[in-house]
Amino acid sequence: MDNDKDMQAQPMPRIGDKAPEFKAVTTQGEISFPADYAGGWVILFSHPADFTPVCTSEFMTFAALQDKFAKANCKLVGLSVDGLYSHIAWLRTIRVKIEYKGMKDVEVKFPLIEDITMTVARTYGMIQPGESTTKAVRAVFFVDPKGTIRAIIYYPLSLGRNFDELYRALIAMQTADAFSVATPADWQPGDDVIVPPAGSCGVAKDRMEGKEEMKCYDWFFCTKKLPAQKVFSTVLKD
Ligand code: BEZ
Repeated sequence: MDNDKDMQAQPMPRIGDKAPEFKAVTTQGEISFPADYAGGWVILFSHPADFTPVCTSEFMTFAALQDKFAKANCKLVGLSVDGLYSHIAWLRTIRVKIEYKGMKDVEVKFPLIEDITMTVARTYGMIQPGESTTKAVRAVFFVDPKGTIRAIIYYPLSLGRNFDELYRALIAMQTADAFSVATPADWQPGDDVIVPPAGSCGVAKDRMEGKEEMKCYDWFFCTKKLPAQKVFSTVLKD
């Protein structure tokens, strides 16, 4: 019951909403979100606590991929309800002490927000009392170049995220925007993409008769080729 009340008190942002604005202190100085990221994609993600093992494995993995995300015009912003000095000490420990799965000397160059008042975490629905009242869950918000939330993923405290999946989701959304298509289950660049449903019976008939260059499984389910090279040359920066 209390959880329900808490949820009602502050609505959680949803897909299609403008990302709620805030200013915050981070390990890279102050930021205004999402204004500072306008014109590019940004992933705002939370972790439960500094100096914890799952979070450490996640930060090392995300930091190792930060240049890959940057090439896809996407910046990263982390958040936990710890303070700035904890963040700085933890990121330093990661850089100087931790060697994990071949990753070492890992420098986290993206900002990590301090949110000891939980203001940002509450605004973004990262405090989910059924899971924890004192820690943020593992939330991921994809925000597009216009500041609109395009995807949201939540994980519980015990489950480390799959960063290849986050990259796949980013490229898939960029591909959908650039080519006006959708992407099927388990899509990877180079796989066939889904063309929007035919707007008229004539178009549907043409598709079924194979007059357009696509493969139709039925009138409502057609795919076409989209080479990986075309995807990457469109969505990646040099
Ligand atoms: C972790 O990152 O290891 C962790 C953090 C909070 C609760 C459980 C695990």
